[in-house]
Amino acid sequence: MTFYVLTLFPEMVKSPLRYSILGRALEKGIFCLETINIRDFAIGKHKIVDDYPYGGGEGLVMKPEPIISAIKSLIIREPRLWIVLLTPDGITFTHKAAIRFSKMKAIALICGRYEGVDERVRAYVNEEVSIGDYILSGGETAALVIIDAVVRLIPGALHSPFSAQEESFCKGLLEYPHFTRPSEFNGKKVPEVLLSGNHESIRRWRYKEAFLRTWVRRPELLNGRELTIEERKLLEDLRDVC
Ligand code: 6GU
Repeated sequence: MTFYVLTLFPEMVKSPLRYSILGRALEKGIFCLETINIRDFAIGKHKIVDDYPYGGGEGLVMKPEPIISAIKSLIIREPRLWIVLLTPDGITFTHKAAIRFSKMKAIALICGRYEGVDERVRAYVNEEVSIGDYILSGGETAALVIIDAVVRLIPGALHSPFSAQEESFCKGLLEYPHFTRPSEFNGKKVPEVLLSGNHESIRRWRYKEAFLRTWVRRPELLNGRELTIEERKLLEDLRDVC
């Protein structure tokens, strides 16, 4: 899988991907990264990539021609390229979208800057994606978030093939609490069950904690969920306590 990131700041995307899990996945060839500097497709002596908005107003708008030239040059090399515009008014990126992206061969992520990109760029993209309800200075940090979430799902990226499945949202629940040594810290003890060596008790405790945490913190994640027998029993027990 190859990510082509179209940006005015290639280093902002390349540097953070040198570290940890993503750095190793890149070295192992689990995914490829190519940054394309949009400025290289600007014309004229000054290679201008932005301009004042028609109708007036604050800030600059990214010109359409350099971005569209960059897209066209990429499509020649990758005819099945999936083109994504990163914009705060896009559809919110979720774990489900990460799974969909992880099965693709080549994805272009277009990073907007300033007040946005010229509206006519939208006609050249397959989808528009946001990473949440807040405004970033540019799409570069959003591209990093998306690459991180997608690469972890590609087989071979993580140490254990089970790690990605175990994680939050895969089973539709938040994570259970984690502990490491020491067994007592500032008077707080690690729950006894985790020291018991009883794998079935540990599994049940973790499931219960994950389910309750989800119910308290993110109840909307349980909407439309077919409750398992274990989950129904947990809720019944809770009702008895309340
Ligand atoms: Cl993709 N871009 C920008 N500029 N801001 C955002 C975003 C993207 N997603 C959330 N906020």
